[in-house]
Amino acid sequence: MTGSERFTESGHSAHPPRTGRTSAVIGLQWGDEGKGKFVDLLASGHDAIVRYNGGANAGHSVVIKGERFSLHLVPSGIMHPGKRSIIANGVVVSLPTLLQEVTTLRGRGVDVSGLVLSDRAHLVLPYHRGEDALREDLLKALRLAAKPAGEAPAVSGAGGNPGGGVSEIGTTKRGIGPTYADKIQRATAIRVGDLARPDVLRQKLELACSIKNATLAGLSQGEPVRFDPSAILAETLDAWGKLGCGACDTTYLIHELLDAGKGVLFEGANGSLLDVDHGTYPFVTSSTCIAAGVGVGAGLPPQRLGQVIGVMKAYSTRVGSGPMPTELLDSTGERIRQRGREFGTTTGRPRRVGWLDLVAVRYSAMINGASSIAMTMLDVLSGLDQVHICTAYEIAGERTTRFQPDGELLQNARPVYTTFPGFSEDIATARRVTDLPAPARRYVEFIQETVGVRIGMISVGPDREQTIEVP
Ligand code: IMP
Repeated sequence: MTGSERFTESGHSAHPPRTGRTSAVIGLQWGDEGKGKFVDLLASGHDAIVRYNGGANAGHSVVIKGERFSLHLVPSGIMHPGKRSIIANGVVVSLPTLLQEVTTLRGRGVDVSGLVLSDRAHLVLPYHRGEDALREDLLKALRLAAKPAGEAPAVSGAGGNPGGGVSEIGTTKRGIGPTYADKIQRATAIRVGDLARPDVLRQKLELACSIKNATLAGLSQGEPVRFDPSAILAETLDAWGKLGCGACDTTYLIHELLDAGKGVLFEGANGSLLDVDHGTYPFVTSSTCIAAGVGVGAGLPPQRLGQVIGVMKAYSTRVGSGPMPTELLDSTGERIRQRGREFGTTTGRPRRVGWLDLVAVRYSAMINGASSIAMTMLDVLSGLDQVHICTAYEIAGERTTRFQPDGELLQNARPVYTTFPGFSEDIATARRVTDLPAPARRYVEFIQETVGVRIGMISVGPDREQTIEVP
């Protein structure tokens, strides 16, 4: 056998045709852009849908004939029977949460047999959630202690510290950060593949619990919770058994699908401005949310990624702490929050709401290489006399159109707005661009011109049907 023949033993040829198409759906703001709807829509043209980052901090909603499905870990393409739904290596998985989600889907008649997990995905365990909550509580207590008495954050759930320094992140408390920290730390990390070796899993859990119990006791402000490795082992194996889905090397699975000419759709979670490297650090999540995350989180070579569909809301929202230059703290903000049902799918927290920040969206389109944009929630802006778009910032007296991803420096950015006439018509039934009132069309055209990326789809309501395809 020659060297090159040996490489083809597994049936994976050295120079495969790799004819399959790939697409990615990526959020261009701080998450909650409405990616789930577009993943669901685009899934019909693909054979597999892959989650590659984040965990149950994400909340993707899909509405089919008025029925709403909330997904946190399961790829939003699950609503299409016969497709593979892949949770790849870059995702962090809480098995009890996944089991709950799968059980609800099964109960509502959704076929989940196509779901498969990477054996290299990391497990979110109870001590990760405990650590997440403890850290946030501690940071909040330190921030409040550092603040003059009586000063409260302007918006419930906003938190943050305008001057920088000590502040909680405002996490979802789903254990996401501590799980990724363990992944990088290595010694205490546990992966899906460990479930196949219960003895090894037990040893790893014993080590992890002894280290976590010691460190969390130091963080705790009251009686520390102690984590029991036997109880976690039992709960984990029980959830895994009940889930009944497979685990494999999903990188090979994805490449085999592509070699066979299949289409693969990658579903980004969270949003580009929450990306751990390119977002408003430190007010970000702990994963690579941008399109480049597909390479790390699913094993796809960068040059193999086809179209990148950037999803953006017609305005801005943000959950948790951190800067948001266009935030509206007035009745207009409240009106948009109520009309847009801007309450977290995962935590139920009211989302912070603001005018569209196009400086931020242009930056996100740039770092993702967005080939087209899908816009959501345009219908929510109906009924406003005027609408504003932030087209520049003023920072320390200087005007700039460059985004400032340093979360502490961005606190000092003042938005510079371009103002547009509003529209009063209900556009929920619009199905073509020409059905939109002229001011709404102008708003969309301005965004397209300023970002320099084609707007290919516009969503005017949550249902699959409430979508305009722009020719
Ligand atoms: P974590 O991901 O739970 O650590 O939270 C870090 C920050 O990201 C917090 O401000 C969260 O509110 C925010 N975040 C994480 N995932 C999402 C999401 O899917 N949508 C919106 N915000 C998110």
